[in-house]
Amino acid sequence: MSSVEEIKSNLKALNAEYAKIKTLLKEERKSFGEELNKRRRKLQAELQVAMDAAEAENIEPIDITAPSAPNAKIPEIKQGSRHPLMTELERVLDIYSHMGFDVMEARQLDDEFHMFEALNFPEGHPARDGYDTFRTSEGFIPPAHTSTMQHRALKRYKKDLENGGKIAVVIPGRVFRNEDVDATHEHTFYQCEGVFVGKNVNMGQMLGVLKNFFDTYYGQNLNIKTQPGYFPFTEPSVELLIEKPKSLGGKGDGWLEMLGCGMIHPNVLKMAGINPDEYQGFAWGGGIDRLVMLKYGLSDVRYFESGKLDFLKEF
Ligand code: DAH
Repeated sequence: MSSVEEIKSNLKALNAEYAKIKTLLKEERKSFGEELNKRRRKLQAELQVAMDAAEAENIEPIDITAPSAPNAKIPEIKQGSRHPLMTELERVLDIYSHMGFDVMEARQLDDEFHMFEALNFPEGHPARDGYDTFRTSEGFIPPAHTSTMQHRALKRYKKDLENGGKIAVVIPGRVFRNEDVDATHEHTFYQCEGVFVGKNVNMGQMLGVLKNFFDTYYGQNLNIKTQPGYFPFTEPSVELLIEKPKSLGGKGDGWLEMLGCGMIHPNVLKMAGINPDEYQGFAWGGGIDRLVMLKYGLSDVRYFESGKLDFLKEF
């Protein structure tokens, strides 16, 4: 195909030929002019095609996904990744799911009733002070623990008991405390709650479930022990400790407190409409951050919420 320049010069030459018309005899002029017009139309059409082709060749490709002006230099986009706590939380839930637990998600804004009354903390109860968190001006509470979900879980799964089954549910959630922040205390962290209710349920079963969980999560056979604890929503209440695994720098002599647990207080069952003479249950709740810190040997809980890329990139 002829280039744009070639066609333009042919057109110019052709235009010059129109001057000849004047020199011709009258009867020759018409056919000569028509011939010139025909050639001119052909050249003009060719010129259009050639110009379109040249334009298409020179055009820079436009990235239609670019957030900036077309053809601006687009900076390299760095791919993000999942937060380590979310990856680990999924592992935690997997383990409980394999044991037959359902998963229910906790709220990040709750109310006075679920935070206290439903958990057997009557008004003015001194143990309320142990759960100092924040409040919105409307009186809502960013929950200080995932136990605020116990009442809802009991009510939601109560029909399973009535059908001869059990309640078995774990509830991960983000919790908030009015803390003096340091390497081991954060104002925002994650917990996982567990609730199990049925007939003839006892603490031995609870310890079996929890030991199985820790053994599976850390991939080894761990020693566990309990020490007395106090929570208004369990009776008896204990704290569960695991012996610091050797693979994680333990010498077999360090005990780490991992969670609070106990038999669900009859008042908590009653408030959810479950007869405590017929059914018993156990519940537990523990921090996910702490679990993950031990697994990876992390010394500062504040990294998780810091958004520090250097830290996050290590996972
Ligand atoms: N919610 C308690 C805390 O954060 C932990 C806890 C203790 C949860 C006993 C339970 C339980 O479900 O039964 O300190």
